[in-house]
Amino acid sequence: MMMPENGHRAHGFSSAMFLDSDEILNELNLKGNEVFMDAGCGDGHNAIKLLEDYNHKGIVYAVDVYDASIEDMETYKKENNVENLINIEADITEGIPGVEDGSVDVVLLVNVFHGFKASRKLDEAVEELKRIISSEGKIAIMDYKAWDVPKGPPTPVRSSPQELQELFAGHGLEKIYLNEEIGEDIPEGKSHYLIMFKKN
Ligand SMILES: C[S@@+](CC[C@H](N)C(=O)[O-])C[C@H]1O[C@@H](n2cnc3c(N)ncnc32)[C@H](O)[C@@H]1O
Repeated sequence: MMMPENGHRAHGFSSAMFLDSDEILNELNLKGNEVFMDAGCGDGHNAIKLLEDYNHKGIVYAVDVYDASIEDMETYKKENNVENLINIEADITEGIPGVEDGSVDVVLLVNVFHGFKASRKLDEAVEELKRIISSEGKIAIMDYKAWDVPKGPPTPVRSSPQELQELFAGHGLEKIYLNEEIGEDIPEGKSHYLIMFKKN
């Protein structure tokens, strides 16, 4: 268990320490009233940033399989009286209860997707993300480049944007955006990519 800067518990590294939330959220071109989901929210810093700094008025879901992360998000919600924040403890690959089909405009996964490859649950994850997004909804995945570099997850669990494009195409989802110059500056270049998909 890591202890991120905001004191909320997270199962894994909080990207708050090395990725710029503003850089990520600005990629999404949000209007402020969308139904948004921080999927694999960890300490929830991206969801909280959206609520506090961007004054997001649409529903914000924070979803994580780690119970302590969701407990901390519930404490944050109550202490700050954030009515449009909905916290859900769920394994994305097994389905997110309480979220209707086609009801989410933007799902963001930061440093989460490689975990589905590690657990060999890629197809299950993509199907659930597809289920929840609206007809014009977007799935935004920010993850480590498929490089053999020390920082980040083991090389075999990383995926290239091209691999994700093929995976998502197999589920009827098309790539609508790719930025390969995002994230942390490491000796090899920018550490991450951000790719977005929507239904065909
Ligand atoms: C490396 S952390 C990243 C957290 C956060 N997105 C960030 O950028 O700081 C990965 C998070 O994904 C969550 N996670 C991993 N697999 C998951 C799954 N199948 N369903 C829901 N959450 C999952 C973990 O519990 C952890 O909080």
